Amino acid sequence: MDRQLDLQCDRFPEDFVWGAATSAYQIEGAAEVDGRKPSVWDTFSATPGRVQDGQTGAIACDHYHRYPEDIRLLAELGIQHYRFSISWARVMPDGRGIVNEAALDFYRRLVDELRKYNITPHATLFHWDSPQALEDRYGSWQSREMAQDFAAYAEAVVSRLGDRITHWMTLNEIMCFTHFGYGVQVPIHAPGTVVRTQKQVWQTSHHALLAHGLGCQAIRSASPVPCSVALVDNFAVPVPLTELPADCEAARQAFPFCGYNGGILLPALTGEYPSNWLAKMGEAAPEIQEGDLATIHQPLDALGFNVYSGVYVRAIEQAPGYEILDFPRGYPRMHMPWLQIVPESLYWGVRHISETLGRSDLPILITENGCAADDELTAQGEVMDSDRILYLRQYLSASHRAIREGYPLKGYFVWSLMDNFEWSWGYDRRFGIVYVDYATQARIPKASAHWFSTCIRHNQIV
Ligand code: NOJ
Repeated sequence: MDRQLDLQCDRFPEDFVWGAATSAYQIEGAAEVDGRKPSVWDTFSATPGRVQDGQTGAIACDHYHRYPEDIRLLAELGIQHYRFSISWARVMPDGRGIVNEAALDFYRRLVDELRKYNITPHATLFHWDSPQALEDRYGSWQSREMAQDFAAYAEAVVSRLGDRITHWMTLNEIMCFTHFGYGVQVPIHAPGTVVRTQKQVWQTSHHALLAHGLGCQAIRSASPVPCSVALVDNFAVPVPLTELPADCEAARQAFPFCGYNGGILLPALTGEYPSNWLAKMGEAAPEIQEGDLATIHQPLDALGFNVYSGVYVRAIEQAPGYEILDFPRGYPRMHMPWLQIVPESLYWGVRHISETLGRSDLPILITENGCAADDELTAQGEVMDSDRILYLRQYLSASHRAIREGYPLKGYFVWSLMDNFEWSWGYDRRFGIVYVDYATQARIPKASAHWFSTCIRHNQIV
């Protein structure tokens, strides 16, 4: 190793998990192949006006057919952990009942290919693509039945793939597929149903929490071997504007009230909707049946933290003692309206979890971090995404700080392995470290992919 890289200061622990992430609907394509039936995202994207330029995930990166090439790329880049999701509408095309063995064979082949290169699979059971059949039957997350059906699906998958996969994640970003799926006047997320009241919106996320709880139980009972179970959340992160004690305390006070934290992450982690959050919600709080909170509050082996941005907070004299600051005009952001560059959000997110739980032994994995950039493929066949490298370096430095200070941050998955279907933005926004030329389906590692690969090789930020 050369002298410069020999610096000890930025080395990560020897067992640090370096990975890359994707999700089924965003990359697989093959929408009608081998018995798959539509998910709500097929329906949503086929509805005019919902997705930019009328794009859909019908072909996406054609990963369903090109997975050997994609996995070879992971191996070439030295990425030893891969987070992907399993499509419910492939495995159970009607959402419940008959299991589609052809779909499971696909995931078996995928995992076997990963294992050929010693890449550890981390599977998310649900990344937003609910079977359309369940939307038609009972409005999917509007119904408590969805939680039972999810658990049955989880059982079906884990009992069949549990010999090959031992790292499971239940649901990805509950807030997005519930609050954005049902509570937004101009729909931006499937199914794009607009329910009447805030209480009904909170009911959808309560049902998702139940699905998570029942899903955890199903995974543990179906797995033939001991396995790890995690929830993946994109909780909001208040970052103190300065690290003076008063601002740090203000950020701590703000944490339960920021974004959807009080109604999603906190019940999952603590088994309670915080009382001051319930008081603030009043009529809008969801209806909670006896036993629900115990079901929701399952022991976890890890928390998956998807982090892209955060909000700055400062202490103020008046109640509630904190102020969430607007970003000043011109504050730097990446190629998304919501992607202000706030690298400390990674460190503070990890720290808030540890402080909220009053213990710091729940392993945390950064299950997504990355950014969209205005990537251009040059005539020489290169993508020089220096902005992405600079963005990622800062967030990795924040990871390193969390580890240095003793927080249990165990790994980091970059979002995403490759450019893909960015939901209502279609293919216009590119989050990959590998460029996808959709006309030819060629994969071209960007400068950030080579850089990330070097970080992994040296186990440090370079
Ligand atoms: C989080 C989601 O899990 C993922 O599907 C999405 O592409 C990224 N954020 C970027 O928006």
